[in-house]
Amino acid sequence: MTLQSLLNNVLPKNGDFEIFHLQSNPCEIVPIITPKSKITGSKENPDSRTVKTQHFIALSCKKKFVYALEIFVYITVQNDTDKKYQKIQPPAERLIFISKADTNGYSDVRFSTKDVTRVILEYILKIDPNYYLLRVKPLKRKYKKEDKKNFIIGKDKIQNNLKKLSKKALDNTCHILDQDIYFLNISFAGKFITKICLFTRPADQYLFPGSSSNRGKHILNGMQLMKWWLHIIDNLVEEKFDRSNKLKACLKIPGEDVLRVGKHFVGCRYRNWKSGDIFSDDLNSLAAFCIPLFPDDPKSRFLHQLVEENRILDTNLRTFWFELQERQEFKLSVLVSVIGVEGYTVETSSYSPIQGEDVIVTSSLKQFHFLKNYISAEEYDTEEGAIESYFNVSKYLSSNLNMKLLKLVGSEKVLARKQNSKVNLLERGSVVTILTPRKKHKQ
Ligand code: ACO
Repeated sequence: MTLQSLLNNVLPKNGDFEIFHLQSNPCEIVPIITPKSKITGSKENPDSRTVKTQHFIALSCKKKFVYALEIFVYITVQNDTDKKYQKIQPPAERLIFISKADTNGYSDVRFSTKDVTRVILEYILKIDPNYYLLRVKPLKRKYKKEDKKNFIIGKDKIQNNLKKLSKKALDNTCHILDQDIYFLNISFAGKFITKICLFTRPADQYLFPGSSSNRGKHILNGMQLMKWWLHIIDNLVEEKFDRSNKLKACLKIPGEDVLRVGKHFVGCRYRNWKSGDIFSDDLNSLAAFCIPLFPDDPKSRFLHQLVEENRILDTNLRTFWFELQERQEFKLSVLVSVIGVEGYTVETSSYSPIQGEDVIVTSSLKQFHFLKNYISAEEYDTEEGAIESYFNVSKYLSSNLNMKLLKLVGSEKVLARKQNSKVNLLERGSVVTILTPRKKHKQ
């Protein structure tokens, strides 16, 4: 099932919706959980390889971008050639880190952001992990000596670089070499663990700068946001994960005791939600070897701080969570939480997105950020930003890549929600009501 068909099921008909699905080229990175061997020098985790891919999905309504979601997918495989360590190697793993969701409030048609987010995650779960391993940019490239002669280097004379360029244009072998070095010879095991991780912290804006100035933007507070995500993930756990097999679903609210956290599970479809995290069951384990390092994540920032303070080898998970709640970004009196799921999916993930049809895979990380910035670096204090970003992305796609945004027809079964920005303003305390005492005007 394509992304379009999944989204059509949750969007109203005739909303003039379009989807922009941008994907970075998969690249090999250092392990996201620091291996013990890196610090202790032991050979416990010999040769696992991690491949990172970023998805950026933006929805437009009536030629304005109105919603965006940023997700990272990490695929970890073990090097099968290393038979000696086979027994202690953990199974292959797919980790989906939900980084940011945001809206800007300029949609002319009200839709359920929650449903849109849920089906995008369903789509990501359907993707075959081997799809990410087809053309990976390796961490280190093994060049032959003669290949290096053809590299275009800034330090080199202009004439030499021009000669190399003309050789490249005439001689196809150089081009073939470029393709080959983006290929890692690894494959994914049939049965694998899927993890989903996210950190919920409300903010006025994440991906649409300046959008908080729009009074029509609906911003959930900490508690609402945690429940919003819990509802989305709970549905995924119930419908997409194998409940009989090693399934873990956890919610951690730093600073809140187990009993109080447990109260949030009332109404969840999955009956076995636990207070805690999926990173380790043993609070005495060293945090450095359990907590994954994600981009722009407070847990990762705290781990880096522990390294700077030279406490990384003394801080266990108990201390880590305790001290984390004292950090500024956790202390701003808003409720923040960490949600995690770990288990096997019921359906086989066998879908491969098709370039130009339901995904645009950029040729470089530079191009990925360039295109993403058309949306995430625009100013959204007025509606102009939403129109401009739509115009710029569409223009780039048609003139540079001969591609288009994907049209969504929606479904007759989904009714457009009522536009009710007054409720929104009341919720944010921005309008004067009879319940609010009015200040006397000075004479
Ligand atoms: N006025 C009144 N109620 C509204 C309005 C409105 N304008 N818009 C939506 N609602 C109601 C909906 O009816 C729904 O109610 P229900 O649960 O009773 O059905 C509820 O609010 C949620 O509506 P959604 O359409 O699902 O979500 P929403 O439009 O509120 O978007 C989002 C949620 C993206 C989190 C938004 O609040 C936002 O942009 N927040 C700012 C950025 C942010 O904090 N992002 C999350 C970061 S954490 C992370 O991404 C991992």
